[in-house]
Amino acid sequence: MLPLIVANWKMQLSDADAVTVAGEVAGSPIADAELVLCPSFTALSRVAEAVRGSAIALGAQDCAADTRGALTGEVSSEDLRALGCRYVLVGHSERRQRLGETDAMIGKKLRATTAAGLCPILCVGESFEERTEGKREAILTRQLDVLRGLSLVGTQQLCVAYEPVWAIGTGHAAAPSDAAQAHAFIVDTVREVAGAAVADRVRVLYGGSVSPENVAAFLAEQHVAGVLVGTASQSAARLRAIVAAAGRDRRI
Ligand code: 13P
Repeated sequence: MLPLIVANWKMQLSDADAVTVAGEVAGSPIADAELVLCPSFTALSRVAEAVRGSAIALGAQDCAADTRGALTGEVSSEDLRALGCRYVLVGHSERRQRLGETDAMIGKKLRATTAAGLCPILCVGESFEERTEGKREAILTRQLDVLRGLSLVGTQQLCVAYEPVWAIGTGHAAAPSDAAQAHAFIVDTVREVAGAAVADRVRVLYGGSVSPENVAAFLAEQHVAGVLVGTASQSAARLRAIVAAAGRDRRI
């Protein structure tokens, strides 16, 4: 399977800049990697237009916990699918930490996503304090429990992004071998809570200060099926360099 490169533009790009970057990336060939762009909600339809005809897929950064209802300001996973999204980030650490998202909310969002036929990218990862206290596995176990009893229909997939909070936006990526250990633990835990059928289909991505310089080292590790990229994905040149490096790595 080709490595999956997911660009999370957060709230960093204006809609106009998002469309420009998407158009620039879509204009160059993408071989040997799958690329997903996650702009903000307001840019989704224009970015969808900018990448039409290319192999680039579209993702959203969040969705509502319910598919319909009296939920002012929320965005339904069904509407995201209708807009052309195939992926949705669920439970990003910025939403957990700054917007108070709980595991219960994240579990509901995950199910709203799969119910709409989208592929959730469940974000998990420990903080610096949790890591230094030796709690990484306990935190991952708790965060992955939202997958308990999950079943996937047809060819539906599940992604889990391991994003250690201390590596996000800091320029200090995890060591690839250290991330690989977490990924192996994630696959085992998914098997335990959601069963072999889901675990066999899960793609575990690494996120946290991924760059054109380090992406190949992550993708060379077992159980690293792709990367979730913030800062380095916000420039077309850097994003193209990441995609090129990911493809090169797989050809070796
Ligand atoms: P950075 O690549 O800026 O560290 O962000 C990672 C991230 O949060 C992607 O979701």
